[in-house]
Amino acid sequence: MDISLERADETVGTVKENLHQLHWNLREQMPEVHRYAIALYDAGTDKLKTFTHSTLGGGKLVHYEAKLADVPSLAELARDKRDRIVADLEIFAGTGSKHSQTLLAEGFKSSYTKPFYKKGALCGFLFFDAVEAGFFTPPVVRHISVYAHLAALMVINALAPVEVLRSAVSMVQDLSHYRDRETGTHIDRMSRFAHIIAMNLAGEKDLSDELVEFVFLFAPLHDVGKIAIPDKILLKEGKLTPEEMHVMRRHVDQGSEMIERMARSFGVETLPHMEILQNIVTYHHEEVDGGGYPEGLRGEDIPLVARIIAVADVFDALTSDRPYKRAWSNAEALSFLDKHAGTKFDTDCVRALKENMEQIEDIQSNFPQSADSAYHEGYTEDL
Ligand code: C2E
Ligand code: SIN
Ligand code: SIN
Ligand code: FE
Ligand code: FE
Repeated sequence: MDISLERADETVGTVKENLHQLHWNLREQMPEVHRYAIALYDAGTDKLKTFTHSTLGGGKLVHYEAKLADVPSLAELARDKRDRIVADLEIFAGTGSKHSQTLLAEGFKSSYTKPFYKKGALCGFLFFDAVEAGFFTPPVVRHISVYAHLAALMVINALAPVEVLRSAVSMVQDLSHYRDRETGTHIDRMSRFAHIIAMNLAGEKDLSDELVEFVFLFAPLHDVGKIAIPDKILLKEGKLTPEEMHVMRRHVDQGSEMIERMARSFGVETLPHMEILQNIVTYHHEEVDGGGYPEGLRGEDIPLVARIIAVADVFDALTSDRPYKRAWSNAEALSFLDKHAGTKFDTDCVRALKENMEQIEDIQSNFPQSADSAYHEGYTEDL
């Protein structure tokens, strides 16, 4: 299989291109709207994350992220399902969020902000900004609303197949009792660890906001191939024999085939960004010195998304109880990652995790393992 990160980024481009096209149409009619941005909301962490933006002459709000609770003005809009016109952003000078401070510093004077929802749940915000104070008059806003509505639909449509995929997999996992062992909270945590790592590498590795978001959306599917592993091995309470480990390792190829089949039957057009998913599923057990499986790839030949998932997955596996081991402390797990940084694990990914332990601990307390059922017996060995 030959799927590069570059190709993955191209696919990611499609939603973005549609949105940019929309922005150009809007600009033709309203050249004053110099910036628009879309941020997505994750209820699990209360975080708001830039999904895409278009700012003339660059802009510093790429990879912007904040807790909704820390931006009361936006939290209020979300709760009341209202949009908001700020005629003069100067009113936020000295008091507003990092977001409004940055906008001011870049010369924007007025803004229009609109939350959008899917089935009543907050999905994200659309931001429109102009350099002219008082630009967003009611007739202007009525006009922009059409674009805002279309942009929100595009984002929701782009994410819908991802959700269909995720819920189909989670149904199969429930049916196969897979979740009795590899529990829901592992997935809640590791997908968010992966997102933190991706987010922190985005600047230096030039990753798009979409790629960062899709790492988060697809991370839960990394072990989808375990569905095909016999329960006798998957649920074994104790060390696997070498033969059993051999069977176990096939979860990677089996997952890869499942994704391939899904892509074929749904059609690649309806399931966007399959390369990112395929890279995650196929290469999350590769190691940078070539000692991993299934292909023994080395260093940068391992897709970056897979190197990110590997660190997030192993860190959470180590700090969780498994039927075959007890949980390690964060300190023990970090020193394991450190020891193997540059041999098993990507050094930059390990650093990105280590430098953000406060957020990691936040996630651990939001998604404690004790919230999972059927997990309290059967440890056969100690650390
Ligand atoms: P998993 O439990 O999700 O673990 C993912 C990866 O985390 C493992 O990949 C390994 O790199 C790391 N890891 C997890 N626990 C430990 C540990 O106690 N010590 C060390 N050094 N690393 C750990 P790996 O080894 O390729 O295993 C893939 C999957 O195979 C595991 O996923 C698990 O489902 C299964 N597995 C591996 N070893 C055993 C075992 O001794 N008993 C059982 N029942 N399953 C095992
Ligand atoms: C997200 O999960 O961050 C996207 C919001 C959604 O489509 O539900
Ligand atoms: C604020 O800073 O309170 C407003 C956030 C924004 O829409 O810029
Ligand atoms: Fe795996
Ligand atoms: Fe895992």
